[in-house]
Amino acid sequence: MEETKSHIRKLGNYVRWLVIVAEIVLIGVIILALIAAGYALFKPDLLGDANDIWEIFEEENSVLVNIAIAMENIPDNIRIMLGALAWALSMLGVLFVIHKIGKIFAEMVRSESPFTDQVARDLKKASDGILLLALVNVLLGLVLFLFVRLFAYLFEYGAAIQKRADETNRIQEEMILSFAEITENKSGQTGKHVKRVAEYSRILATELGMDAVEADRLRLASTMHDIGKLLVPSEILDKPAKLTDEEFAEIKKHTTYGGKLLNNVEGEVMKVARTVALEHHERPDGRGYPEGKQQEAISIEGKIVAVADVYDALTSRRSYKDAWDDTKAYEEIVKGKGTQFDAAVVEAFERAYPKINEARLSLQDAN
Ligand SMILES: [Fe+2]
Ligand SMILES: [Fe+2]
Repeated sequence: MEETKSHIRKLGNYVRWLVIVAEIVLIGVIILALIAAGYALFKPDLLGDANDIWEIFEEENSVLVNIAIAMENIPDNIRIMLGALAWALSMLGVLFVIHKIGKIFAEMVRSESPFTDQVARDLKKASDGILLLALVNVLLGLVLFLFVRLFAYLFEYGAAIQKRADETNRIQEEMILSFAEITENKSGQTGKHVKRVAEYSRILATELGMDAVEADRLRLASTMHDIGKLLVPSEILDKPAKLTDEEFAEIKKHTTYGGKLLNNVEGEVMKVARTVALEHHERPDGRGYPEGKQQEAISIEGKIVAVADVYDALTSRRSYKDAWDDTKAYEEIVKGKGTQFDAAVVEAFERAYPKINEARLSLQDAN
């Protein structure tokens, strides 16, 4: 019996030292994992090749890592952070259990006889602790699973709604562009006038600080600026000779006609389109039409399309004139700053001119 006791003590001593070494290693690993998590979150570019690091964590078959794997669309650095935290957490659990076992063995080595009720009780307690850890892990996993699944359903639902909205928008855009094309053909502005005006308007709106949604709304709305020409007699629109005062007055009415056509149509794009149709020939100095509105009375959308429309009219060939050289057209717009055109819009035009010119070149008419 004495021999057995001394053997067990020796073994106990062995285990104690092993536990101390394991504890030091584990603490080191936990610290490293936490540092890695910190880097992943705050300095992701210092991590090097994200995939290499991720492979280390992927080995660890913990609940958090599995969730990080399941979430395919999260950024690499967040995934690595989750993996590192999962590592630190499970290492902490192992550290806790090992520490307990170390304490039991230390007690055993110190005592008269290793076979005491105290050691037996402690070992039982330690096994309870391990069971608890396992249960907590499973429960946590279950809760996280439900949580992530719930999000998955939410996203699925959102995606279905988004798809329907996209389809509606696509149909609406197609209809709008068809109308714009019909108008274009009727008013003898062949080519891509409407597309260019739309693109210039979007660029100017962005330059003036509108967000992408607003700028895109104006892009689409601007295509209908001359929709009122559908109600102007073709003989006047197509007349090759100089127009009489009455005929010119009739042409000017395309603004109010446009406003009326778009009056009762619902939707944000249509509201902007109506404003643009009404105001794209107004001037800040009050000499525009149909109402002779001044400065702030004219909407920013109307002011933007006014510049886009005139710039494109100048740089395009029409039945009654040749296309102007783009520098000359640019100067003409700048000359109108504050009188024919809104000063802020012209300044945006000057700043964004490289982009506008690029759009003009990429949307040139076929001939
Ligand atoms: Fe017009
Ligand atoms: Fe136009």
